[in-house]
Amino acid sequence: MPMNIAIDGPVGAGKSSIADAVAKRLNILHLDTGAMYRALALYVLRSGVDPADEAAVCACSDRAEIAVRYQDGMQHTLLFGEDVSACIRTGEVSQAASTVSKWPAVRRRMVQAQQALAQQSDMLIDGRDIGTVVLADSPCKIFLTATAEERARRRYLQNLEKGDSTPYETVLAELNARDAQDMTRKTDPLRQAEDAVLVDSTNMTPEQVVEAILSIVEAVYGKR
Ligand code: DC
Repeated sequence: MPMNIAIDGPVGAGKSSIADAVAKRLNILHLDTGAMYRALALYVLRSGVDPADEAAVCACSDRAEIAVRYQDGMQHTLLFGEDVSACIRTGEVSQAASTVSKWPAVRRRMVQAQQALAQQSDMLIDGRDIGTVVLADSPCKIFLTATAEERARRRYLQNLEKGDSTPYETVLAELNARDAQDMTRKTDPLRQAEDAVLVDSTNMTPEQVVEAILSIVEAVYGKR
């Protein structure tokens, strides 16, 4: 059985960067499942389809060729062979990813693909339904969160570094709207799995969060 670690949490909890750092320390791969929903959202938008149109989005999902490749340990997300890793990071794609991920047929396909990847190698997987669905049987689950204000503050500062000066209030409102949609959808909403360990990073440095997660992993797998 490969070593599989599940990390779930709301928008801006730092899942991706923390998961990258933890996976590097453990020398295992990190699968960012949000990138797969984002790649589908990009395809939906490029096709001129409304992300809220379930039938049209599911048709796109049936056609879409989304793949994940690793180069020097880094995930690259491909859409019909094109590396879309960078262009799926816009605000428009974020909102569209949250909407397309509501549709059950979309989720079924993504979950199957993610479970197939998890069977191939040791992996740390982050997303919204990893502990509850994708790796429901994993003995190692973490729910990573922080207050909405702190998550928005971090996102706002990251944006500034990238030259994006969207006001803090807008960042907070968008984050809350996306969380609300991800937590209230009918199929596999974001929630903490009963057997997940809660890590509240509001008052922690990234290094402290990485150490806390490594300790949780060590308690389960005896390795850090
Ligand atoms: O983690 P992220 O912000 O890149 O994810 C983008 C959207 O994709 C998120 O708002 C909800 C959806 N998502 C999901 O439904 N299930 C996952 N396992 C990962 C992401």
